[in-house]
Amino acid sequence: MSAPIKQHLIDPEICIRCYTCENTCPIGAIEHDDMNVVVNADVCNFCMDCIPVCPTGSIDEWRVVTTPYTLEEQYSWTEMPPQEDIGGSEAETGLEALDDAMVALLAEAHKGAGGKARAPATAAKPTVNLHTLGRPVTAKVTGNFRLTDDPEHDVRHIILDFGAQSMPVLEGQSIGIIAPGLDDKGHPHLPRLYSVSSPRDGERPNFNNLSLTVKRDPVGVCSSYLCDLEPGAEVKVTGPFGATFLMPGDASAHLLMICTGTGSAPMRAFTMRRQRTGKAGGMTMFFGARTPESLPYFGPLKKVPADLLDQHLVYSRSPATQKEYVQDRILAEREKVRALLDDPDTYIYICGLRGMEAGVDAAFAEIAGDMGQSWPDLRDALREEGRYHVETY
Ligand code: A2P
Repeated sequence: MSAPIKQHLIDPEICIRCYTCENTCPIGAIEHDDMNVVVNADVCNFCMDCIPVCPTGSIDEWRVVTTPYTLEEQYSWTEMPPQEDIGGSEAETGLEALDDAMVALLAEAHKGAGGKARAPATAAKPTVNLHTLGRPVTAKVTGNFRLTDDPEHDVRHIILDFGAQSMPVLEGQSIGIIAPGLDDKGHPHLPRLYSVSSPRDGERPNFNNLSLTVKRDPVGVCSSYLCDLEPGAEVKVTGPFGATFLMPGDASAHLLMICTGTGSAPMRAFTMRRQRTGKAGGMTMFFGARTPESLPYFGPLKKVPADLLDQHLVYSRSPATQKEYVQDRILAEREKVRALLDDPDTYIYICGLRGMEAGVDAAFAEIAGDMGQSWPDLRDALREEGRYHVETY
């Protein structure tokens, strides 16, 4: 029997198939088939470059094995295998030393990353990877509406209808969109991930449809494709993906939602779900945009009653107000946020620009300090309880 080794793996249940890890790996150790994204144990050198870029933490899976799992085995998984019993103490196998090095590397790699998340205990069970890269489903565009008045900032509300085909999505999940044509290497485009912005019963209740919130990016192939779609057009879709950025099912839970720009998509889905079910709980939102004219869903948000959603809309480039980021407002409202951090029913969701993460983290650290608590410890505990969720890009 060969000596045990530590193998790097990807959790197929949580992975959202954004392929960022594969594109980041400097030595080609990560690859995919139509089902899964996997790590080649013969190639991976534990450089950890793939860890901080993963938006879900699904990349952060390790097993101690005597025989590494093959690519074929990993491709066949729908969930992670349990740790096998390899026998022997860590000291005997020499894994202790390896673990120390690994822990140090992981700590470094995780700086500023979302880390490993858990779904809220009361979240509904999500369906994942129903429509794969090899067998995408075709949806029909039934609406494409501009959400922003700023001529320089084109954000669209796009409605996709799946007809009689199954596409069960929960709020907070994403779907993949495959742009037609080939990339610059002559390969078909890989799916681009978009967070669903409608609740589980559809953009239009009880129709088999959903909505996406898409910002036109002049260099983005898929966002331009989506933003230009006319009603009636057909779109290839994969997914749904995501098994942790989900809302709790209990009515008493308080949602603390922090977002920028199109990161508001899942927050809209959460809010609409609660509006439709009457499960009010409490909801607090910190939403950052350049100006009111570039803030997606500005009009509809203004109509959501304050007793359902406590809104803090902040602007970084509005001539009418001082430059403000979400983290600035969180600190300005530190008493309110402190009370929420203290409340065991609070669930935190952060979605939007990656740059926001460090600022929000620092704001929380300050408020946790006011409470006499270490933010890293509190954050880890919240994450462990399925109460802290980050999706940034
Ligand atoms: P700015 O770009 O003016 O610095 P959008 O995606 O619609 O452009 O909105 C993103 C919003 O997030 C903008 O207001 C942007 O401000 C703001 N933003 C940029 N960087 C950060 C950051 N590090 N922390 C928080 N907000 C940020």
